[in-house]
Amino acid sequence: MKETIYLKNMMIEYENLFKVNLPYFEKYRQNFEEVLQSGWFILGDNVKKFEKEFSFYNNIEYCSGVASGLDALTISLMSLDLEKGSDIIVPSNTYIATIISIILAGHKPVLVEPDLTTYNINPALIEESVTPRTRAVMVVHLYGKPCDMDPIMEICKEHNLFLIEDCAQAHGAEYKGKKVGNFGDMAGFSFYPTKNLGCLGDGGAILTNNESFHLKNEMLRNYGSRKKYQNEFIGLNSRLDEIQAAFLITKLAHLNIIIKHKRELALLYFSHLKEDFIKPSVNESFFDVFHIYNIRHKKRDALKDYLLKNNIQTEIHYPVPPHKQKALSFLSHLKFPISEEIHSTTLSLPVSTIHSKEEIMWVIEIMNKF
Ligand SMILES: Cc1ncc(COP(=O)(O)O)c(C=O)c1O
Repeated sequence: MKETIYLKNMMIEYENLFKVNLPYFEKYRQNFEEVLQSGWFILGDNVKKFEKEFSFYNNIEYCSGVASGLDALTISLMSLDLEKGSDIIVPSNTYIATIISIILAGHKPVLVEPDLTTYNINPALIEESVTPRTRAVMVVHLYGKPCDMDPIMEICKEHNLFLIEDCAQAHGAEYKGKKVGNFGDMAGFSFYPTKNLGCLGDGGAILTNNESFHLKNEMLRNYGSRKKYQNEFIGLNSRLDEIQAAFLITKLAHLNIIIKHKRELALLYFSHLKEDFIKPSVNESFFDVFHIYNIRHKKRDALKDYLLKNNIQTEIHYPVPPHKQKALSFLSHLKFPISEEIHSTTLSLPVSTIHSKEEIMWVIEIMNKF
């Protein structure tokens, strides 16, 4: 108590990207200087090096750096070369980018409810959503927790469906000892600054063990071209910048330490938060990286206000489910009660590398008085 009393008047921020990146400033300055001096800013040695290192980290053969997580998913779908308007199965409680990628690639999102304990797509509900028009399943390892991949892979195999993993929130997460990204045909990652592996702007990557998908991804990110000024099909301009790749090489070397820290903070919540709060599910086979540590509570909004009054910032991931978004009004007639339940009760607690164990114990102490 004596040690934590000083926290009383201090704001515990949900996140602070200046502080998150502070330990790497010196190295980042060196990265910037080197890229500046090189005079090569697009698809150069840094992108190649990062792609190699990120492939190695994930134990996946090929990696293509792209401009964002959204583009990683959109390009993956484009590479599948499906007939336009194919049905793609996706969880109903993901960040909207997953669903937008399906629409941008010219397909139809078919939303499937999550499991109320894992917040990830419910494998038992996938099968009943498969129709003759279904061509792929796009799973999302939400908040950093892997999906239950065995039954999902089984369904995809049985119905001859492609499988794409949205790993935007799950760098380094593992399912039965294997890193996410290893279970589908392709995997999309985001390096948005708040991610566990975040750069200093936008960035993304596509990982695959399939050589022909990889070649297609490489061309799609570069105007459909593999040879300068020769364009084989219509592609995008979606390349990871050299400068972001250089920052990512620096950060990737620390990713396991970042994950370890977040898992230690999560453990404090698991061990000390009172049972009134519904905590994330725990399963020995799932190595969760806690991009987000959420709890659920029926008085979520009052809890959020109470914490803020006590100088503790929280976030909601996400306040509005995709099918209730104006942008997706064509889905508004559908009912997803589990997704809506999660959206109305979930609260994301501070769980960043900027937080000390003492700060999280303070958050817990305040929360337990609610
Ligand atoms: C689950 C999920 N998918 C996709 C994305 C898109 O990534 P980006 O913001 O890099 O485009 C995000 C980013 O927040 C995400 O959380």
